[in-house]
Amino acid sequence: MTMPKDYIDTNAYTKEELLALEDLGLAMKKAIKVDGFYPHLKRNKSLGMIFQQVSTRTRLSFETAMTDLGGHAQFYGPGTIQLGGHESLGDTARVMGSLLDIMMARVNRHKDVVGLAEGSAVPVINGMSEYNHPTQELGDLMTMLENLPEGKKIEDCTLAFIGDATQVCVSLMFICSKIGMKFVQYGPKGHQITDGGLQVENKVDLLAIGEENCKKSGGSIVISDDIECIKGADFIYTDVWYGLYDDEEGGESYMDVFYPKYQVTMDMMNYASPNSKFMHCLPATRGEEVTDEVMDNPERSLCWVEAENRKHSIRALLAALGERTPLNDEDLEY
Ligand code: CP
Repeated sequence: MTMPKDYIDTNAYTKEELLALEDLGLAMKKAIKVDGFYPHLKRNKSLGMIFQQVSTRTRLSFETAMTDLGGHAQFYGPGTIQLGGHESLGDTARVMGSLLDIMMARVNRHKDVVGLAEGSAVPVINGMSEYNHPTQELGDLMTMLENLPEGKKIEDCTLAFIGDATQVCVSLMFICSKIGMKFVQYGPKGHQITDGGLQVENKVDLLAIGEENCKKSGGSIVISDDIECIKGADFIYTDVWYGLYDDEEGGESYMDVFYPKYQVTMDMMNYASPNSKFMHCLPATRGEEVTDEVMDNPERSLCWVEAENRKHSIRALLAALGERTPLNDEDLEY
């Protein structure tokens, strides 16, 4: 199996490719955590990490995953490299691609990570844009695969996203529809996926992409402001509420829009299903989109293992992209 050159958008990947990445990620998780074997698949290789925004989980995951693979990661924070100045993005990408073996970028504008990928000879990974967050999707799928309800396959499961159509919400619709799951967004009108998400320049029809995926996978998508839509959900997922529109002069207050109807509480979790599991990309604002009781519930909350799985899934992506594609079974023999 040959992966695409870059990982900018899950929709460029097949279901089989995504599941192969998860298999590899889980195999390496076991190799490292249980058996203490570090597969040095990126020995002497360099990862360049561009961050135009702050990050805890994504930065730490990429940097430590590259170390696990025997390579080196270099961090470029805001204002530390030429990006969007007098040098064209294409020229920057060309030079970076000649100095590095793999790149990742968290950008303010999706077109910048697309431009880096187009201009660079080496693989480029999207570490989040205003449009989507595809490495979050991989960690979330890994977390669901590890925590399937008894007797269910991943295709039988429903993920209900509660709240605003953030890039994480949109990304979850992408990956759930690719895999063949049921995806639900329970959110207020004006903040639903059909309202366009946070994307600044793309302005693509997000729901049309999800529905196209569903045609191939057998998945389904429901978007509603009626709580009935979360009934039967296996995974209840939320994200922080503040979005771009809250910065606008005279804009609506996100607390007025979302609280208390869309706060994830134990009552909401139990309304969905007595066994529903809680997920959150983090960072969370405790007491706003979710209560402490849900976040800290050892039986129901997956958000901590989900954060750890960012690293295990990103490690697989780093290993699979580039010159080592496709990986052989022997790569993981020890
Ligand atoms: N979930 C996530 O992307 O976290 P960071 O912003 O801390 O990287």
